[in-house]
Amino acid sequence: MMPEGGYYCSKKSDDICEDVCGQESRGALSLSRLRCILGGLDFKAYLFLFVIVPMGIVGVYFHGQKISYFLRPLWESPPKPFHEIPHYYHENVSMEHLCKLHGWGIRETPRRVFDAVLFSNEIDILKVRWNELYPYITQFVLVESNSTFSGLAKPLVFASNRDQFKFIEPRLTYGVVGGRFKKGENPFVEEAFQRVALDQLLKIAGITDDDLLIMSDVDEIPSSHTINLLRWCDEIPPILHLRLRNYLYSFEFLLDNDSWRASIHKYQPGKTRYAHFRQSDIILSDAGWHCSFCFRRISEFIFKMKAYSHVDRVRFSHYLNPKRIQSIICKGADLFDMLPEEYTFKEIIGKMGPIPHSYSAVHLPAYLLNNADNYKFLLPGNCRRESG
Ligand SMILES: *[C@@H]1O[C@H](CO)[C@@H](O)[C@H](O)[C@H]1NC(C)=O
Ligand SMILES: *[C@@H]1O[C@H](CO)[C@@H](O)[C@H](O)[C@H]1NC(C)=O
Ligand SMILES: *[C@@H]1O[C@H](CO)[C@@H](O)[C@H](O)[C@H]1NC(C)=O
Repeated sequence: MMPEGGYYCSKKSDDICEDVCGQESRGALSLSRLRCILGGLDFKAYLFLFVIVPMGIVGVYFHGQKISYFLRPLWESPPKPFHEIPHYYHENVSMEHLCKLHGWGIRETPRRVFDAVLFSNEIDILKVRWNELYPYITQFVLVESNSTFSGLAKPLVFASNRDQFKFIEPRLTYGVVGGRFKKGENPFVEEAFQRVALDQLLKIAGITDDDLLIMSDVDEIPSSHTINLLRWCDEIPPILHLRLRNYLYSFEFLLDNDSWRASIHKYQPGKTRYAHFRQSDIILSDAGWHCSFCFRRISEFIFKMKAYSHVDRVRFSHYLNPKRIQSIICKGADLFDMLPEEYTFKEIIGKMGPIPHSYSAVHLPAYLLNNADNYKFLLPGNCRRESG
């Protein structure tokens, strides 16, 4: 309800306006009243009301996220920096000497190592991962669910491709967890639930005190020499994050060297819990690769965009258009049209726009190069993806 006499009347109103505004009766006068209100505004006010304000609303609707990301340095301070351990490696240097360079002693026998992942649909990158780590892993532990983190039903992709992984079958502990399919829930809850299943499966796999446990996503691949170093050296930190080179779409697009979520733990029964957030302040430099959205087929990109914990980033349905996705991959641009998630204006501006192409395929997982025919799409110079 409008309050009595609550109609707006400009001070600059002309006679007609005064007439209307002064009316006591409330007939079909709304139109004249509107004219009265409008008549009282000058040209600048019109411009503001009908051009600037709508443009602003449209702008915020389409770019609100960008605006808030750009202003991140104002509303969020950067996380505490890691204490970074320099990483020494050359194939010709003895393990004893490598351990010593890091300030550690060498053990009589290496520790056992467990690699545990939550699997969604990343078959190709899983193969690269397991081949890279194969020589040093005691048990590969893999959990998959029939639900994505975002609560969509998903086929058991690993189960139907299991025959491609015969080489690790004797060392595989595989588990399926049923999704809860809760509508409208935060995807991180389903993700946390699936990680608890990993903890249980690790016990079944026989992990014990002082074994090493790698906690990382499938696409965060520690280099095998890093794992070999950590299993042989004594006195390594109980929880150590791994700094990985951060790639997007393929090894052609090196975004930065700042992926830090992967970690390696000296297992403590009853205490160690599988997690994918920051768990210590120590990080080992240059310890492997993180290849996000490194898929062979466009359909896998679409699946991942709809499935993962940040599903809210798909703000417009045209984001899922295959032609658009293909063109973005080749440019090294952002699938979600977002600004870089950084904490200083200098870094945000420095990283705006597409990622520069890299033509180095030096120091990549050996399996990739040994099977280059089958993995062209991950190597520099091959951005076209299989459709469908
Ligand atoms: C590695 O060691 C071998 C044998 O000691 C030596 O012949 C070779 O030159 C070394 N390579 C490099 C790159 O240092
Ligand atoms: C998911 O798996 C659980 C347990 O195996 C089963 O009870 C449920 O029916 C499955 N749901 C779908 C949608 O496949
Ligand atoms: C990442 O590290 C590599 C090797 O140290 C270096 O060549 C490259 O320039 C770095 N890239 C970025 C984006 O910092």
